[in-house]
Amino acid sequence: MPASPRLTVIGTGYLGATHAICMAVLGFEVLGVDVDTDKIEKLSSGEVPFFEPGLPELLTKALESGRLRFTTSFAEAGAFGDVHFVCVGTPQRADSEAADLTYVDAAVTSLAPHLDRRTLVVGKSTVPVGTAARLAALLRSLAPAGDEVELAWNPEFLREGFAVDDTMRPDRLVFGVTSEWAEQRLRAAFQPVLAQDVPVKVTDLQTAELVKVAANSFLATKISYINAMAEVCEATGADVHDLAEALAYDERIGGRFLRPGLGFGGGCLPKDIRAFAHRAEELGVGQAVGFLREIDGINRRRRARTVDLVVELCDGDVAGKRIAALGAAFKPNSDDIRDAPALDVAATLHRMGADVVVFDPAAMENARRVHPELAYATSALDAARDADVVVLLTEWNEFRDIEPAAMAAVVRRAKIVDGRHALVPAHWRAAGWEYRALGRPS
Ligand code: UGA
Repeated sequence: MPASPRLTVIGTGYLGATHAICMAVLGFEVLGVDVDTDKIEKLSSGEVPFFEPGLPELLTKALESGRLRFTTSFAEAGAFGDVHFVCVGTPQRADSEAADLTYVDAAVTSLAPHLDRRTLVVGKSTVPVGTAARLAALLRSLAPAGDEVELAWNPEFLREGFAVDDTMRPDRLVFGVTSEWAEQRLRAAFQPVLAQDVPVKVTDLQTAELVKVAANSFLATKISYINAMAEVCEATGADVHDLAEALAYDERIGGRFLRPGLGFGGGCLPKDIRAFAHRAEELGVGQAVGFLREIDGINRRRRARTVDLVVELCDGDVAGKRIAALGAAFKPNSDDIRDAPALDVAATLHRMGADVVVFDPAAMENARRVHPELAYATSALDAARDADVVVLLTEWNEFRDIEPAAMAAVVRRAKIVDGRHALVPAHWRAAGWEYRALGRPS
């Protein structure tokens, strides 16, 4: 076996494409594998099928180096790879809160028949604890090499918008392994990353699986904690923005993920806390993480409260009112609209009879596809034209930079709801705006 293992990355969605591209740039021979021919064609021709700063340039570099190729063939993957990373999605099931493991199971069962020598398969997808042990047994039973095929778990912590940095210089690596050989293989597969003194936690499979959901649950809890404080602030006239800032000076608490507002969305946090609560119930320890249901509830209430604020500014009825919705993506620097609080609020206002016009710097195409009933503008100012209320839903920098007087000149009524605490209230009020934000006095 070569000193530097040849890598395959199965699943070229957000996580897999980033991993494949970065590993090739770091010097590995990499084969990206997907059942989606369209994705494979796009990536092979140098096109990243989603928005991620810095990634298109690295894809070009990786393709030019000749170290990165893509295929739809699992036979080719089996013949090529020494270490196979499984990076397919685990969305929420349509019929319950559990994670849908169809894609993970399909990846493993498609790859296994082609594993005829000693090989390491590494799960990166976010899965319910216990999945890795089941997949290890499945691999052994289906692979011609039998017990020679080992499974390890290496959860991924990358954030959309920072995917390249998080992959090249992660906070930590977690290796869930069942043998010394698997650990050494993983160390070889991450050698250039480890050379930068990135801490590694070596543990068992189930702990590695749990680290991921525990981390995302903690982050979701921190966000909902400050948003729960926002609810209390609203009832007392206190200011959650100042409260959060004052809390953040305590280094034990820290200010990251303590930004109040419309709450969390995206393809990870919401479905991960639900799947974790569901899995814990299956394991008979549902009570231990029962608070996650509360976290989810607080998060959903922020969306409803944002809608309420818009209704208040429309004197109790949004029907027939023109609302400018600034933002559609679940967070800035992303075109991802999965469980996006922004679109949830926009669609709810539309259902209530408002005339909603959306603008987002990156997510327009995705938003239009899923919400064709909404109207779309070409810029923030264009969206705000003749608006009765402007509502900021995703904190893109270009929205922070809006000149309040310039926007005041195009709206019908200068009223704004800052759903993300992204604007400086004094600037907006000085330009004649009625400024409202969740958890802040009016
Ligand atoms: C999240 C985790 O941060 C990553 O570590 C993890 O790898 C990833 O999920 C995953 O499981 O794949 P991501 O979904 O990209 O990453 O987004 P975050 O940056 O965590 O933001 C999540 C949501 O929380 C966004 O809607 C954001 O607007 C919201 N948020 C974040 C707040 O409302 N307040 C904050 O203070 C921080």
